[in-house]
Amino acid sequence: MKREPIILNHDTDEGLRQKKIIERLRAINDTFEQKHGRKKRMHIATFGCQMNFHDSEKLKGVLEQIGYEECDSEAQADFVVYNTCAVRENAETRVFGRIGHLKSLKEKNPNMVIALCGCMMQQDTVIDKLKKSYPHVNIVFGTHNIYKLAELLETHMETGESVYDIWDSYQDIVEDLPTVRKYTYKSSVNIIFGCNNFCSYCIVPYVRGRERSREPEDIIEEVRALVADGVVEITFLGQNVNSYGKNLQHPMTFAQLLEEVEKIDGLERIRFMTSHPKDLSDELIHVMAKSTKVCKSLHLPFQSGSTRLLEKMNRGYTKDSYLSLVNKIKKAMPDIALTTDIIVGFPGETEEDFMDTMDVVKEVEYDSAFTFIYSKRTGTPAAQYEDQIEEPVVKERFNRLLDEVNSLANKKSREHIGKEYLALFEEENTSRKGYMSGRLDNGHLVHVEGDSSLVGSIRRVKIIDAMTFYLVGEIIHE
Ligand code: SAH
Ligand code: SF4
Ligand code: F3S
Repeated sequence: MKREPIILNHDTDEGLRQKKIIERLRAINDTFEQKHGRKKRMHIATFGCQMNFHDSEKLKGVLEQIGYEECDSEAQADFVVYNTCAVRENAETRVFGRIGHLKSLKEKNPNMVIALCGCMMQQDTVIDKLKKSYPHVNIVFGTHNIYKLAELLETHMETGESVYDIWDSYQDIVEDLPTVRKYTYKSSVNIIFGCNNFCSYCIVPYVRGRERSREPEDIIEEVRALVADGVVEITFLGQNVNSYGKNLQHPMTFAQLLEEVEKIDGLERIRFMTSHPKDLSDELIHVMAKSTKVCKSLHLPFQSGSTRLLEKMNRGYTKDSYLSLVNKIKKAMPDIALTTDIIVGFPGETEEDFMDTMDVVKEVEYDSAFTFIYSKRTGTPAAQYEDQIEEPVVKERFNRLLDEVNSLANKKSREHIGKEYLALFEEENTSRKGYMSGRLDNGHLVHVEGDSSLVGSIRRVKIIDAMTFYLVGEIIHE
């Protein structure tokens, strides 16, 4: 595939400009280190989804180049960053509580710089509240300009003022930012940003902007570089990976992208999330089924089993069409592991609607499910709906759902006993001494007796026991 040059910021090289700023700040931090005998310390707290965690790896990459070293505690840090999530109201309330608490830390250490970014910052109400009541916050930016961190820090250091820089929409996809990966052998890779779906309960399209896909050449180059650096597993990230490539100058489907990436030597596993059921194509099922690298696991949120509510949610599918999609997938890949997201208590949810949700759970038998209590998000259409459900009713349904989800997950888990799989070993198990944790191709967590020499390797294991949330296995020495 021919590689076009990356054009940054139309005719100026934004990436290069940021690198120059990083160098200037690095010189300042080197002086600090000489004077104080230690590097400046950073602490980044990340909330929300994998998208945010991946963004934080980029923020960390920039701060490391500036000369910061990571520390575990906010109290020890010279630079604190909160990368926030807006998807649920109560999580936002907790973040405000933590920002309030930072004030007392800053009183003890007046040189502490506090930065806030991520999805919460894309909301005017949040910005107004911060400006009014949280003057100890120094730098605030949003989801479209994380690559400007160094510049915002420099502006704050030069002026001593709080710097707010929030963009309504993205301008460029700036490639080529430094990144600090949490793991040496696996990595996430963004393929599509934003969301066009406007599910009626969801804030994401408002805080992450419209869909835009990265050029396939840029993605492939990034994967190649990661593989050359020891990565064997990649996870493609997007709010809806199934609409990848539709708006590229030379359109390409997600399935075609997977086929291209599969050709990269040394790459062993390809994962992705999230798949929107309405856009999951036969082509994708076909490519997954025949692939030796694309993992046989699929996160396929259904949110509600009630066709009536699915329409109110603006999801674009019905209970029946979702179930027939699942059947098609299971037929093509009988060993596929399915996971999902479910919302309980959407406005107007009746007992009958809820039983439709339970039906889907029982019929599909998910390997695991993320269950959420509906949260009324200001700014979304559903927040205006009048038939909001009372908390005790929602809680009672939520508990019934959780019991069902867990008992089915336990049943599915036990089906693995006696079978053999390949596991990629990730880290030492913190609760079981002498055990290592790994992931099977189907996404299941497995604990196996062994030592840290296993990290990053793929080994054949036999499953000998199963709990609801993890399996226990033993390595098969071939
Ligand atoms: N793009 C992904 C999901 C992103 S948000 C998708 O479409 O599947 C992750 C999950 O948060 C959603 O799947 C949904 O289950 C949940 N969620 C989003 N908004 C919510 C709200 N207002 N209340 C409760 N859960 C919500
Ligand atoms: Fe939110 Fe729906 Fe977009 Fe997922 S697809 S991010 S749930 S609006
Ligand atoms: Fe939250 Fe933003 Fe992800 S709202 S779920 S961090 S895209």
